Amino acid sequence: MWISSLEFVSFCLPLCLCPSIEEPMLLGAEDHREERPALVPSLFPLFSPTLYFSTANEKVELLPAEQRRLLKWKMSTVTPNVVKYTIARSHFRVTKKSHDWLGCWGHHMKSPGFKALGVHQKLNHFPGTFQIGRKDRLWRNLSKMQLRFGKQEFNFFPRTFVLPQDIKLLRKAWEDGGSRQKWIIKPPASARGIGIQVIHKWGQMPRKRPLLVQKYLHKPYLISGNKFDLRIYVYVTSYDPLRIYIFSDGLVRFASCKALKALWQYLGSKGINTTLIWEKIKDIIIKTVIASDPYVNNLMKMHVRSPYSCHELFGFDIMLDENLKPWILEVNISPSLHSNTALDASIKGQMIRDLLNLAGFRIPQREDVVAACSSATSSTSSVCGGNRERTKLDLSADEKVKQAFYPTQRYADQDFLSTVLEVLTPEDVRALAESEDEMNRRGEFERIFPSPSSSRYLRFFESLRYLNILLDQWEQKYWNNRTKGISLLRSLCQDGIHLGTSDPAHIVRNGQRMK
Ligand SMILES: *[C@@H]1O[C@H](CO)[C@@H](O)[C@H](O)[C@H]1NC(C)=O
Ligand SMILES: *[C@@H]1O[C@H](CO)[C@@H](O)[C@H](O)[C@H]1NC(C)=O
Ligand SMILES: *[C@@H]1O[C@H](CO)[C@@H](O)[C@H](O)[C@H]1NC(C)=O
Repeated sequence: MWISSLEFVSFCLPLCLCPSIEEPMLLGAEDHREERPALVPSLFPLFSPTLYFSTANEKVELLPAEQRRLLKWKMSTVTPNVVKYTIARSHFRVTKKSHDWLGCWGHHMKSPGFKALGVHQKLNHFPGTFQIGRKDRLWRNLSKMQLRFGKQEFNFFPRTFVLPQDIKLLRKAWEDGGSRQKWIIKPPASARGIGIQVIHKWGQMPRKRPLLVQKYLHKPYLISGNKFDLRIYVYVTSYDPLRIYIFSDGLVRFASCKALKALWQYLGSKGINTTLIWEKIKDIIIKTVIASDPYVNNLMKMHVRSPYSCHELFGFDIMLDENLKPWILEVNISPSLHSNTALDASIKGQMIRDLLNLAGFRIPQREDVVAACSSATSSTSSVCGGNRERTKLDLSADEKVKQAFYPTQRYADQDFLSTVLEVLTPEDVRALAESEDEMNRRGEFERIFPSPSSSRYLRFFESLRYLNILLDQWEQKYWNNRTKGISLLRSLCQDGIHLGTSDPAHIVRNGQRMK
């Protein structure tokens, strides 16, 4: 029996009348849409603004021709319409050249391919995310985490085997599993439920080809007798420091589709604490992304010139069991953004609008585009764009000492770690300002890492990273009064601290902390 994704029919039928996004707009029709400025200013002095993206019910002001000319996008065969419409509203034009585009929404590519990205270019992937995007890797990496940190923390993915190498282990699990078991078999890199099959008998197991065999979760939570799964959109803007956002709405896939918010309403009406379910979902998403951290960061160091160049949207497929515990079924690194219904279009349209705002596209310096063209090394003039490029090479000796020191304090208590905020270095100010600016552009995304309660996740990182400690401490100190944190950073930026200075007052007094 060949079925689509876990027996859920994957097409969607409209259930409610949601505002539909019809593109293109009728030409010549009177246009009463509100006009929005083309640029979102930074919260901080001397930082570059970012480009504004809208949904169809707004229009975006035109930039002066000089700047507008730089708004180039590279199309790929997989660029979804929702992305095309959104960038067109911000007056991007398509380019065929390889060096002058600012953004591309395309295929994942082999890691060395990332070397070709200029410091002014953004691609919607990080190198190495297939470590969670391929089901066999996801399982292996999460199993590794389970071995290290225990079942208590890492028990949210169905038992999975990779054939042919795991055939003996599978045989044993099968024999221990008793009668009436169900397993799902699928090709290792299948997307969107292609080639998935459910089997009940050992004899049904194909032996000759690579295969992923996953224990079927016995008792899913049912609504009126129907199974469903959740498609949750997760957006990572940076891996170092790690910043993860989750879109507040999503899709619930029954025989037809519903908005996630409609599911929360339904469960809420049954007296179920949906906040608790949402908290659990966030927890397993953070842990899954952390499982890919060492791999992705290594490849970033090897192949990517500027952290600005990478960002990625993940589609997490999650199912709730009869106890309303969420399980991760798979992680899609190229989640479908095609829309078959008004509901689809509405959710995905808002999500992409917010995502592109969060991404923080900047108008490049002309030299960057030219430099990329002549394939010279990138310009390092980080004028005013304190938030443009951050390369470790720019760090002063004192900053290096500070950055090397804190990650060695793995088991230090919070009081000690909070000293990381005592004297902020130029790099600290840049990282914190960038992060506050980003937070300010989050739209309907919620940041789940770092968060006021994210300290507990630091132990799951294979290597503790300095910027993760810094942002975590900052969050603990300022989450309940962001204004206070922002005004502190603002005054530091006003003094130009983030641009680097030799004024000793602004450099960490490492002697105090090195004992
Ligand atoms: C629901 O769960 C959240 C998160 O655990 C908790 O803070 C809240 O108090 C719970 N609400 C109720 C009504 O039990
Ligand atoms: C995940 O598993 C793969 C294959 O076993 C391994 O090569 C990779 O290093 C692992 N990734 C992480 C982040 O541990
Ligand atoms: C936030 O901090 C500012 C500046 O210190 C202070 O004036 C304000 O009262 C604080 N707000 C809250 C809600 O604590």
